[in-house]
Amino acid sequence: MTAESRSQHLASEQSEYLFPWVRPYYDEPLVMSDAEGVWVRDIEGEEYLDLFAGILTTSVGHCNPIVQDAVRTQMARIGHTSSLYVTEGQVEAAKSLAEITPGQLKTACFTNSGTEAVESAIAAARLYTGRHEVVALRLSYSGRSSLASHMTAQKGWRLPFGGSAGIVHARSPYTYRSPVGHGPEATDLFIDDLVEVIETTTSGKPAAFFAETIQGVAGYVVPPPDYFRRAAEVIRGYGGLLIIDEVQAGFGRTGQHWFGIEHWGVEPDIMIMAKGIANGFPVGATVTRPEIAEAWQGPSISTYGGNPISMAAMRATLDIMKRENVPARALERGKQLRAGLESLRDQFSWIGEVRGMGLMQGMELVSDRATKTPDGDRAGALLGAAKAERLLIGRGGLHGHVIRVGPSLLITEEEMDEGLKRFASACVRADG
Ligand SMILES: Cc1ncc(COP(=O)(O)O)c(C=O)c1O
Repeated sequence: MTAESRSQHLASEQSEYLFPWVRPYYDEPLVMSDAEGVWVRDIEGEEYLDLFAGILTTSVGHCNPIVQDAVRTQMARIGHTSSLYVTEGQVEAAKSLAEITPGQLKTACFTNSGTEAVESAIAAARLYTGRHEVVALRLSYSGRSSLASHMTAQKGWRLPFGGSAGIVHARSPYTYRSPVGHGPEATDLFIDDLVEVIETTTSGKPAAFFAETIQGVAGYVVPPPDYFRRAAEVIRGYGGLLIIDEVQAGFGRTGQHWFGIEHWGVEPDIMIMAKGIANGFPVGATVTRPEIAEAWQGPSISTYGGNPISMAAMRATLDIMKRENVPARALERGKQLRAGLESLRDQFSWIGEVRGMGLMQGMELVSDRATKTPDGDRAGALLGAAKAERLLIGRGGLHGHVIRVGPSLLITEEEMDEGLKRFASACVRADG
């Protein structure tokens, strides 16, 4: 069997043995086999520069040797306990996390995914407030459980039956597509809509307002500067909690601060994390103030949540991130990335907007800058062209028309230069 046919063979066996929703990027799927840092090799031996990091997840690089050592050592000691037993690893992981979470947020529970972290946050808010309704944002992505998929507000990602009672959606703070532009009027529009949604589609007693700091799957929608301060005032005015989803934006990715919400000086009541927290090991975290956590007495168990191996990976990942000061690194490399993408926007009229923060930068593709018609076909072509240039990038947006970049937070200046060079060649290929 030739190397090429192995790839095709595996892709067709995947379609035979796995659910169709486990759908890979690219018509000719990429079969990954090895990786190191920002480099990934496929089964044919081709090497790719990975600027998407398994959806913003390999925060300290693929196969980071320090994380590997921590996992190997832990596996040789004890690999599983369930949440019924105390482990040093889980306690130390929670303490390490509490060192960087804002203000009074120090009490955590660990799960296996971002989806479960969302579920835990909603349950905690409902138990604490004794209320049920939750205001989420349109265009959000929250995960794939029944509740999380109905908090998600993009038609393609929602499970196609029913909905989840008590979940309502306010307008996304999407300035590029706001009818009143980027200025203070846009913030007024988004906040007025939040108030109107609470007044007209809830009992007026919501348990929480739930939002990603930067809407990731929506295509890196960055809210205007005063949005979260005012949204926090609104939800607290109605007696509800502010839940902030940092699954994509957390752990220094947005540059300068550890968490996206810190850019706007707002302290949430509950915060959730996953992805970059453990460099690819399955960890979701829900963190809150002690008195909110107190309201959830259980009983509840998690067989794998807080698993010793995942906790070892998380502690090693956090140690590296702290030592390397990844918020500062992401700020610097983010400027480099942003400048590179902006220069591409100056060359290609189909790039409507470049946006993002730190190492979370994207570009919205349009068929015409005046009408801003979303161009999902061009984004598909660009994704494929990047693959041909041996570059991995991501895609998002309601119409699949936003290109997303989110590499390891340890990416070097030279690696970023190389990535931008390949990006430019991909744009030339996708042009026309
Ligand atoms: C903002 C956000 N929240 C929650 C989730 C769900 O995380 P998971 O896929 O780990 O369940 C995701 C996944 O992409 C996400 O982007």
